[in-house]
Amino acid sequence: MAKAVLKVEDVRKEFVLGSHRQTVLKGVNIEVLSGEFVALAGPSGSGKSTLLNLIGCLDVPDGGSIEIDGVEVGRLSAKEQARIRREKIGFVFQNFNLLPVLTAAENVEYPLTLLKVSAAERKERVRKALDVVGLTEHMHKRPTEMSGGQQQRVAIARALVTEPTVILADEPTSHLDQENSEIVVRLMQRLSREEGVTFLFTTHDPGVMAEASRVIRLRDGLIDAGAASEAAAASAVDGN
Ligand SMILES: Nc1ncnc2c1ncn2[C@@H]1O[C@H](COP(=O)(O)OP(=O)(O)O)[C@@H](O)[C@H]1O
Ligand SMILES: [Mg+2]
Repeated sequence: MAKAVLKVEDVRKEFVLGSHRQTVLKGVNIEVLSGEFVALAGPSGSGKSTLLNLIGCLDVPDGGSIEIDGVEVGRLSAKEQARIRREKIGFVFQNFNLLPVLTAAENVEYPLTLLKVSAAERKERVRKALDVVGLTEHMHKRPTEMSGGQQQRVAIARALVTEPTVILADEPTSHLDQENSEIVVRLMQRLSREEGVTFLFTTHDPGVMAEASRVIRLRDGLIDAGAASEAAAASAVDGN
């Protein structure tokens, strides 16, 4: 039985804009097991990015708790949050967010320079991460010399290279065409199955959701339990 690497309990978040107060998350509960490939779905504005940002220690919840690898991260100082982000979280963004002046290899190496990893080990880990995403031949190219799909695979290698507890990906395929979207999703799925990498990613795309090992749906600030039990029933029927 895989262990839970992420536990979100009764998480609440509201935003106040002037006199308008909007409760975006009203008590969200999620558990993700090591090696799972979980899609977070829900209509636009349902709070998917807000929830990923809380889990990724980019923001703090107004209530509830978030545990990553057994560590409560919901009430940390900004400095402690930054350490958790460096050591335990990998991020993949919609628009790739590579540094344009760096090559693919330098982009992948960057998060390792923030950790205490020797130059020799950095080189070896970068080589392995680029190999696993199939970009060894492109390691000296800059982002502008690569396609969107290749850039997103560099971003995945950069997220992987620190061996984080979980990789959070916010709409990782929404700026890609159909073919590259499939390549990127299959890559993440393979990393989950073969390397035991844990992913939580948001998506609108039913084709992408279909590849997930589990789909969690957000609606009106809560996890849609009806959809969760339908999915469980469907996978029980499938026998997986
Ligand atoms: N920093 C913020 N300040 C105010 N409102 C925000 C902020 N971030 C998100 N929201 C609001 O929270 C709601 C959920 O947004 P978001 O998490 O981006 O949804 P999704 O990713 O599901 O489309 C939206 O109504 C959005 O306007
Ligand atoms: Mg979003």
